[in-house]
Amino acid sequence: MEEAIAFHDVSIVVGNVTLLDRLSLTLHGGAPTVVIGPNGSGKTTLLRAAMGLITPDIGRVSGVPSRRAIMFQHPVMLRRSVAANLDYALAAAGVARSGRESRLGELLGLVGLDDLAGRPARRLSGGERQRLALARALARDPGVLFLDEPTASLDPAATKGFEDLIGTIVARQIKVVMATHDLGEARRLAGDVVLLHRGRLIESGRAPQFFEAPRTDEARRFLAGELLL
Ligand SMILES: Nc1ncnc2c1ncn2[C@@H]1O[C@H](COP(=O)(O)OP(=O)(O)OP(=O)(O)O)[C@@H](O)[C@H]1O
Ligand SMILES: [Mg+2]
Repeated sequence: MEEAIAFHDVSIVVGNVTLLDRLSLTLHGGAPTVVIGPNGSGKTTLLRAAMGLITPDIGRVSGVPSRRAIMFQHPVMLRRSVAANLDYALAAAGVARSGRESRLGELLGLVGLDDLAGRPARRLSGGERQRLALARALARDPGVLFLDEPTASLDPAATKGFEDLIGTIVARQIKVVMATHDLGEARRLAGDVVLLHRGRLIESGRAPQFFEAPRTDEARRFLAGELLL
């Protein structure tokens, strides 16, 4: 990531619902930024705005990089093979036909799906599907990768596999910004943490400080496992 992505007093309003409420925040390069908060707190909206998929009604987002990709909360697979899904993503990313086959093999290897290239994508297990969705996002060769609750429906073993893959991606100098409502996962992966509640930024900062010494009462309660209502 060449430049930090910055939210400047951003509000996003749909009808009479405020999805993001005067949010100011900087997403720096380096270790993953993990966005946490209860259901409906605005995590997906934040990711979509940082990705440039939604324009704020008030304020602005700066530094959105050209090389960026998002893995959506509920990825939809084409009714085709694993390889065809990935080939489609590579074509959509503008990779020329001549370069696609080697890139396809490389990405399937990276996410551990080489043996399943011919399998209909909709027949994959949950964990395999998420890894294919990740490979599709990586087809764009992003400098920043947004992941929206990628392990939410996975069991511990599949979650471990996916988190290890995130480690591989981070080692390739790709900035990861990930939403989760799993605090354990946030502790395992985060360099920085962003806590949202009802579209508002409650707290953000370096992960060790956030987990050891949260500054706000809401963050303390969230970390203690209380329900933020
Ligand atoms: N297009 C829309 N129109 C109206 N309300 C919306 C729209 N998109 C999202 N919302 C509402 O905005 C709030 C924030 O939604 P968002 O999806 O960003 O939350 P989230 O933190 O990702 O939640 P989850 O943990 O359930 O994925 C929710 O109350 C949601 O119902
Ligand atoms: Mg969401």
